[in-house]
Amino acid sequence: MKAVFKFGKKFDHNGKSSRIPGFYKLDLSQRLDKLNDWYKLTRNEKWMLKKETLTPELADMMIENAIGVFGIPLGIAVNLRLNNKDYLVPMAIEESSVVAAASNAARLIRENGIMVGQATEPIMISQIQIVDVEDPETARQKILDNKERLLSVANQNDFTIVRLGGGARNIEVEILETISGPMIIANLLVDCRDAMGANIVNTMAENLGPIIADLVDGNVICQIVSNLSDRRLVKIKFTLDNVDCLARAGYSGKDAAERLVKAYHFADADPHRAATHNKGVMNGIDGVLIATGNDWRAVEAGVHAYAARDGRYKPVTKYYFDEEGKLNGEIEIPMAIGIVGGITKIHPGVKILLKMINVETASEIAQVIAAAGLVQNFAAIWTLATEGIQKGHMTLHAKNVAVFAGAIGEMAIKIANQMAHEGRVRFDRAKELIKHFMIKERCEDPKHKDDQECKDYNPFKLLDNNNKN
Ligand code: MEV
Repeated sequence: MKAVFKFGKKFDHNGKSSRIPGFYKLDLSQRLDKLNDWYKLTRNEKWMLKKETLTPELADMMIENAIGVFGIPLGIAVNLRLNNKDYLVPMAIEESSVVAAASNAARLIRENGIMVGQATEPIMISQIQIVDVEDPETARQKILDNKERLLSVANQNDFTIVRLGGGARNIEVEILETISGPMIIANLLVDCRDAMGANIVNTMAENLGPIIADLVDGNVICQIVSNLSDRRLVKIKFTLDNVDCLARAGYSGKDAAERLVKAYHFADADPHRAATHNKGVMNGIDGVLIATGNDWRAVEAGVHAYAARDGRYKPVTKYYFDEEGKLNGEIEIPMAIGIVGGITKIHPGVKILLKMINVETASEIAQVIAAAGLVQNFAAIWTLATEGIQKGHMTLHAKNVAVFAGAIGEMAIKIANQMAHEGRVRFDRAKELIKHFMIKERCEDPKHKDDQECKDYNPFKLLDNNNKN
């Protein structure tokens, strides 16, 4: 059974725009207030987002040997429009520039083109490994002959997904040649509806395993979900009507687009580059998975395995000019995620963010997440192909260093800009500049003009543009 894409349904528009100009210029509280236009956050929800989305007591219920909770920045990528619906996309991520880059690329696409998505049915695969079978071919046929009975056994438990129209759909059997001889692998295909489904399909496999082993007179070993969920795929495509918007760093929009396509060609031809290219895709995806309580390791495993499906590791996105000369970007990846089950009802932060992302089905959120990966990758290779990655990275990194050295607010920004400009982004330099800016501020007050410190103050002494080391 091959995965079939359903044509992108036009999602019901909620009448809201995720285009929020100047969102990045607001302070934390103003941003939370701004989100009210989109989703009415209660005072408690705002407090939680700002202070504590998960208590240590809850963490203690979630894992063993808990000692606390671990913070990670939470941002909102704005501007995303997919299948004619707008989304605010929460991202839990520590890497500076990801949220800004995704927001910027999403803005370029919505203003200069269109982005559409499709998904297959939400089919997960669970694998049952049977060994010590005398005649593998006969065993294979026996399983297939009993398929209907086995499927109804799999669906027998009172699974919510079965009540909602999902459940075990098919069994495919393969004979694997392995180091220890032939094995029978029964792949159970399960429609998981809006759940990620790992728990359900594992239970189904563990119920069926002994029955199948009996049937073929073999022994069962593993009964477990496959993270290469290549029957549960999403595909997103954007088309830019006009590439003038890509002009950057002295390159015209057309030149920048051509360079970007060649950057993709490099990734297509070279696994070393493809790994970094796909890392950029996952920058956009993992943060949303974490913020929405999904198992990002499962998706990572699936995406990378899918990237190597032809025997060589390849990029999961592609870029090309169509017959009309328009620039197109595409992503196709497995996306095993859910909006019910798992920690979606347990983690208070996830509950708020899932409401905010405003999706109706797992298939819809899967498309939003894949779109975040595509726009993030688009932003990364556009930057690589034009001004290079370090300029932007260094400015943001410089801000972190300035804050770490003790600068706050405006001063942190001034110090970061100065260090990035000098190419000297270092803790000791940040300390030096903090001292400099503090003296400057003090000496601007006429009360201190006669202080020796102010008489000695030389505004140029410390702001030496040429002193790079
Ligand atoms: C950095 O986190 C991600 C990039 O390296 C991705 C890429 O090279 O395409 C910038």
